[in-house]
Amino acid sequence: MGSAPPVFIGAEEVEKHLHRASLLLPALEAALGNFSSGAAGGVAQPVRTVVPVHRHGGFLGVMPAYSAADDALTTKLVTFYEHKKDSSVPSHQATVLLFDPRNGSLKAVLDGSVITAKRTAAVSAIATKLLMPPFAEVLCILGAGVQAYSHYDIFTELFTFKEVRIWNRTKEKAVKFANSVNGPVQVCSSAQEAVTGADVVVTVTMATTPILFGDWIKPGAHINAVGASRPDWRELDDELMKNSVLFVDSRDAALTESGDVILSGAEIFAELGEVVKGTKPALPEKTTVFKSLGMAVEDTVAAKFVYDSWSAGN
Ligand SMILES: NC(=O)c1ccc[n+]([C@@H]2O[C@H](COP(=O)([O-])OP(=O)(O)OC[C@H]3O[C@@H](n4cnc5c(N)ncnc54)[C@H](OP(=O)(O)O)[C@@H]3O)[C@@H](O)[C@H]2O)c1
Repeated sequence: MGSAPPVFIGAEEVEKHLHRASLLLPALEAALGNFSSGAAGGVAQPVRTVVPVHRHGGFLGVMPAYSAADDALTTKLVTFYEHKKDSSVPSHQATVLLFDPRNGSLKAVLDGSVITAKRTAAVSAIATKLLMPPFAEVLCILGAGVQAYSHYDIFTELFTFKEVRIWNRTKEKAVKFANSVNGPVQVCSSAQEAVTGADVVVTVTMATTPILFGDWIKPGAHINAVGASRPDWRELDDELMKNSVLFVDSRDAALTESGDVILSGAEIFAELGEVVKGTKPALPEKTTVFKSLGMAVEDTVAAKFVYDSWSAGN
């Protein structure tokens, strides 16, 4: 007899089982630590393969990983296209394939868009918990797309900011954001206005040239730099990259994929997983940047979480 056919778990179901990104925190912290432990950590994850779709300004990324600690094997397929202002199609679309690691059979096909939004925000939250200054009061989000919402949700769940500010290239979308989230959000007319005096900054744009500059930043602030995932794309300027303590999710990925890291020549201080494990200090009193590129193992643990929860209810 062959193995059972794979199940399909669509976006609504994923959302139901992963209603709060914070549900992923323990699994993601463990995965980050395991990833940064080398072979002993049992995470097999090559730097993702990215295929440019030259004629249409898009990219297809393939992100496989195996986590021995979770005994979970997945690959994510993700497309990302330049954001057309009036397009109803999301800029990022993703699917995660979950395999049975014992024999290689495909067990499930999961919508990957909700997983991508939530696991990315959860990893930024882990970085922020470790790296933000004590008594952080002001959160600033640059961008008003999918990641802006998922970051807002987990940041306001886990931390108590006195003020949340947003700036977006298209102001109406920032206004829509402020009107649709649960707490008060101040819409700013410029990125500089939004950033000035902020203790924690999140950049979640598809910018390809800097939108955040070092001389705007309050000393000691923490920045989660989530966009600019191509070697020639930037969100942060050289001054900010060079004058901050730089943390990354994966050294190999940062040196292959991140324009902010490669083009600035900034020195990487540590992987986030090293800080989670306690083998590198967090230095929250310094100005810190967490350059997030997103790792396949984050999708692996998130997909396993959703699949296990789905299986328990079926
Ligand atoms: N590190 C990770 O693990 C990870 C995972 C997923 C996504 N990402 C990255 O996170 C970023 C946001 O993703 P998303 O899913 O939220 O995308 P999205 O929903 O398409 O939102 C994109 C945002 O970027 C803004 N934007 C686009 N081009 C811009 C430009 N040239 N200058 C300034 N703002 C610009 C858009 O503003 P308008 O409203 O004006 O169009 C919008 O607010 C992307 O760079 C994506 O690749 C990272």
